[in-house]
Amino acid sequence: MGRVSGKVAIVTGGASGIGEATAKILAKEGARTAVVDIDDDNGKRVVSEIRDAGGTAGYWHTDVSREKEVAQSFADIFQKFGSLHILVNNAGIAGHARPTHETPTEEWDRVMDVNLKGTFFCTKYAVPYILKSGGGSVINVSSIMGILGGPTPVYNTSKGAIRQLTKSDAVTYASRNIRFNSVHPGYIITPLFKKLAEKSPLGVEGSIKAESEKIPLGRMGTPEDIAYGILFLASDESSYITGMEMIIDGGKIIV
Ligand SMILES: NC(=O)c1ccc[n+]([C@@H]2O[C@H](COP(=O)([O-])OP(=O)(O)OC[C@H]3O[C@@H](n4cnc5c(N)ncnc54)[C@H](O)[C@@H]3O)[C@@H](O)[C@H]2O)c1
Repeated sequence: MGRVSGKVAIVTGGASGIGEATAKILAKEGARTAVVDIDDDNGKRVVSEIRDAGGTAGYWHTDVSREKEVAQSFADIFQKFGSLHILVNNAGIAGHARPTHETPTEEWDRVMDVNLKGTFFCTKYAVPYILKSGGGSVINVSSIMGILGGPTPVYNTSKGAIRQLTKSDAVTYASRNIRFNSVHPGYIITPLFKKLAEKSPLGVEGSIKAESEKIPLGRMGTPEDIAYGILFLASDESSYITGMEMIIDGGKIIV
């Protein structure tokens, strides 16, 4: 028996990084898994790797910032798998590190649309199916930057709002057997991190070394470090945990 056997899961942003690791681990532990993303090539690659490993998965092209696409895909997913128990709101994009007064309004809107409104849309359209399935678990991927201050105000604000939405939804849906928790990764080596590091004066390897020195456990995180936290929150092992923020950062936030 896998740790989430018999459950159906949706992972947004499942084509890369933390979402890819999460989709693979949930499927390995028995969940029938829907990978939702806008990167079709990688989304289909992840699904075929899950199937090759003996798991059950499907890919749905969905921009989480577009309400109609989310509504349609989630209806299809529910029809295909017949139930829904786990939603991982992971799709996210970074903003640029620049002061608020220099942040273009278009950038503010885009980051908020994907990170925050995307989480809202996916929750809005998943909850009715989770209720029909008898309850479940929603995991919202925030960041340690949703708790701390820093030089990227739009990203940090979107992640702080996700933390708050999680706690409000945890209260609202507790009596209906849906748990909501947020996960707060620290510095994790993923394509998103590498894209940002390439542009920095230190480059990718230099950035990994510099970041690692600031982390008590002495290394940056892997996508699997985060995915195992999400797996715990998705499974019935965490059935008494709701409204919690799970910080997975090698101790970064405590120093
Ligand atoms: N990497 C880190 O250090 C780090 C730290 C803290 C939090 N996070 C958060 O973890 C999550 C995953 O990040 P990652 O590092 O794995 O990034 P990533 O870029 O590797 O993966 C993000 C995925 O989201 C998809 N995506 C982007 N916009 C989308 C949209 N509109 N609709 C659907 N899918 C979309 C991308 O195509 C990609 O597959 C994000 O929410 C990010 O903010 C990452």
